[in-house]
Amino acid sequence: MNQNPQNTLPLGDFKPSDQWQTHINFIFYGTLGPAIHNHFQTYVSRDYRLAHTLAEDYYQQVCDSPTQTTRFIQEWGVGNGNLAASFLSRLKELDADERVYPFTHYILCDYSEEILKGVRLNPRLLEHRGRFSTVRVDASHLDCFKPQSLDKIISNEIWDDLATKVLLKHDGTVYEEYLQPQLDPSLVDADFHSLQDWFDEKNLEELQAHASLLPAIVWERSFQRVDINDWPYHEAIEEQLQQCGDEIPLPINTGAFITLERAHHLLKPDSQGYTGFDYGMFGLDDLNQEGRPYFNLYGGQYTFMVNFDLLARVGKSIGFGQVDKDYQDRYVGRQLDGPVVSLVELVQNHPQVAEMAPWDRDVLMLQTIHAVNTTYRSPYKNKLEYPPMDGTPKKQRKLIAQLAQKLNPYGVPDTVAYVSESEVFKALKPLRKLGYREKDLQRVFHSHPPAIAFTAIHFR
Ligand SMILES: C[S@@+](CC[C@H](N)C(=O)[O-])C[C@H]1O[C@@H](n2cnc3c(N)ncnc32)[C@H](O)[C@@H]1O
Repeated sequence: MNQNPQNTLPLGDFKPSDQWQTHINFIFYGTLGPAIHNHFQTYVSRDYRLAHTLAEDYYQQVCDSPTQTTRFIQEWGVGNGNLAASFLSRLKELDADERVYPFTHYILCDYSEEILKGVRLNPRLLEHRGRFSTVRVDASHLDCFKPQSLDKIISNEIWDDLATKVLLKHDGTVYEEYLQPQLDPSLVDADFHSLQDWFDEKNLEELQAHASLLPAIVWERSFQRVDINDWPYHEAIEEQLQQCGDEIPLPINTGAFITLERAHHLLKPDSQGYTGFDYGMFGLDDLNQEGRPYFNLYGGQYTFMVNFDLLARVGKSIGFGQVDKDYQDRYVGRQLDGPVVSLVELVQNHPQVAEMAPWDRDVLMLQTIHAVNTTYRSPYKNKLEYPPMDGTPKKQRKLIAQLAQKLNPYGVPDTVAYVSESEVFKALKPLRKLGYREKDLQRVFHSHPPAIAFTAIHFR
């Protein structure tokens, strides 16, 4: 929970968490645009493996029913457009007989013009000119498309951004979380009252110059009694509340519920369905883990973990006949015929990593990429930028620059990229030289998923 330092002033009143969360995220994306990827990476922003798995899955599903009419795929919440680019490239490669790719049209939907501007300049996506288009639309108000017109819908890490309420129960009473944003006025290089007004009006033009203040916002929280009888899907929510312990905060991803309703309305009856990837609690056991986190703050952005168990219940009550959940790494691993892990998980399992200074961990990360690159080959050329973090001493700064400069452009594309067990074990010799132990590496590939896990969920 955030501390409330004495010297902060409110930027607005206490409101239910979904209201402030969507407010701040609109300002975050609207002021930063594609620069959001300086704050975080996703499994698709540089890596291609999740997108390829999706394309392979899709291709297998549709190639048995060839069509001469266009199949429309939509992606909601598109970031830098790399998921679309990798999906289309893989689809084209698989489709040697030209039965699917020439009849595919991929529509990238996002509510941020800044984001879409970046997407339209993505060189890898431009290789598919004519096969894609962009639409500025809010994923919560997708009323502009024809019902039953889509063949597939995809989203990655959007539900965590969409409206989410938080409930917890105590002695048979249900409480809802409220938030209030606060800021230290001494950090503000403008009149504080004007800033309050711009913040309240979501005035992106004025706020652009103050975007660096977003991470300094302090969030005060309180819980207030609530009656959920008139909430959509309250039966499903109540059923889940009954199965969860007291004082356990449950994210209720109401924005995600709306995307499921829209998806059900827009997908053709014989479509390939809606596949969403996100991170959160896979099942009831994970929800019931005491003390597990339920929200995240990244560079000013406010996200909530996804409650996949509730999403599945809601999907069924909306009318989806089949809902399947899968851990995301297992979903990718199945196409690669073996388990995969994200590269950062390898580094986290180095025996000395806990005692290392952050810059030494950066050096280890780069050396690990070099080691894995002895066996790994990406189909796409990509120069991995690795700027040193603030405070890095001169010696490590120089080493990081040298290691980054020598990275193979066809090597591991990102620090969160998926690497397979066979790629890692073929590189065992150079990894051992860096201090990795075989038993730790084995464990990384075969351990139980954590309570908060990246998950793939399919609605059909
Ligand atoms: C965390 S980023 C993920 C981007 C991309 N899918 C990826 O994984 O790299 C969330 C994306 O969703 C978009 N977004 C957030 N809320 C949205 C909404 N209500 N409607 C449409 N797009 C939204 C943002 O502009 C951003 O492009």
